[in-house]
Amino acid sequence: MAHEVRAVVAKAKGEPVTVETIQVPDPGPGEALIDVQACGVCHTDLHYREGAINDDFPFLLGHEAAGTVAAVGDGVTNVAPGDFVILNWRAVCGDCRACNRGRPWYCFNTHNATQKMTLDGQELSPALGIGAFAEKTLVHAGQATKVDPTASPAAAGLIGCGVMAGLGAAMNTGDVGRGDSVAVLGCGGVGDAAIAGSALAGAHTIIAVDLDDKKLEWAKEFGATHTINAGKEDVVERIQELTGGNGADVVIEAVGLPETYKQAFYARDLAGTVVLVGVPNPEMKIELPLIDVFGRGGTLKSSWYGDCLPSRDFPMLIDLYQQGRLDLDRFVSETISIDEVEEAFHKMEAGEVLRSVVVF
Ligand SMILES: NC(=O)c1ccc[n+]([C@@H]2O[C@H](COP(=O)([O-])OP(=O)(O)OC[C@H]3O[C@@H](n4cnc5c(N)ncnc54)[C@H](O)[C@@H]3O)[C@@H](O)[C@H]2O)c1
Ligand SMILES: [Zn+2]
Ligand SMILES: [Zn+2]
Repeated sequence: MAHEVRAVVAKAKGEPVTVETIQVPDPGPGEALIDVQACGVCHTDLHYREGAINDDFPFLLGHEAAGTVAAVGDGVTNVAPGDFVILNWRAVCGDCRACNRGRPWYCFNTHNATQKMTLDGQELSPALGIGAFAEKTLVHAGQATKVDPTASPAAAGLIGCGVMAGLGAAMNTGDVGRGDSVAVLGCGGVGDAAIAGSALAGAHTIIAVDLDDKKLEWAKEFGATHTINAGKEDVVERIQELTGGNGADVVIEAVGLPETYKQAFYARDLAGTVVLVGVPNPEMKIELPLIDVFGRGGTLKSSWYGDCLPSRDFPMLIDLYQQGRLDLDRFVSETISIDEVEEAFHKMEAGEVLRSVVVF
């Protein structure tokens, strides 16, 4: 039996999203049907709407979600109806080249639901294989990670994408450690999570960079020790000044622009690490003197989903939240209804919010 539920759909490139009634099948083998309780509005949803990810319209948007398992299909053992779960876009296969190399956080063959959700018979492309701006969604059971059910759904759901991406960019990809200096370029939800992750990992100096003074104030609340307004100051010079003239050990780019990537490249210390977590669009290009790439040494990395392993990281981060050591509630700027996603995109573009979260 298919379920008819309200959901946010992006039908065409650049056009405002609409709320539609979609059809969600009952779970087949290996699948789980989720009653979505909360889903954050991530910049990646906007990238989908803009056609910057691919052209597989119509998209069922939403992917930073928490909810309860409504039903599971045959063979599902990791979750059961009633479990409180965070959805993830990395259901590792255990059998690809990355998994076989013992690096499942790079899994090249992650699982999604086999059956399709539809709108008037047309197959929908769920954002990041999830599609959770919907009262119910269908995922592969491996995309559901069970966590402490006493956590707030609006806060917990954020672990499912942006917050995990930022925390993991610092803690996993950047391998920030005690006493390190870190600079984070872009202080949206992802960048602030990178700041919180750097603080948790014991960084000594945490420099927040943004164009917006309000964002910089918020960044301090997550643990930034210094701030730089990129519209008013020279980012590279200021980061060098704040790090004894050297540059930061780890620089995290959380915007996704060639200009900020270049700043990150030159703002790190010799042998330091650059982590690109911001998502560029396919037209963007960067030119760097190859001698600088060689001569500065160190590591240039990209971070997909904070190199997380949901089964390892999600329950741990929810425990840190419940212990009061990771303030997830601070990321939730507002809770909204499913009808307000388009408006939330505008607020995001205007820099008014860190995260708007749809609650059901
Ligand atoms: N790699 C991943 O796995 C992953 C996961 C989720 C999101 N992302 C990406 O991370 C990026 C950030 O996401 P978000 O949700 O935090 O977005 P956001 O729009 O909330 O935040 C972006 C921030 O960058 C700031 N900014 C813009 N231009 C700048 C500049 N030139 N210098 C300094 N700051 C500047 C903005 O003021 C804003 O505060 C996006 O590109 C998103 O797609 C990546
Ligand atoms: Zn794999
Ligand atoms: Zn996201």
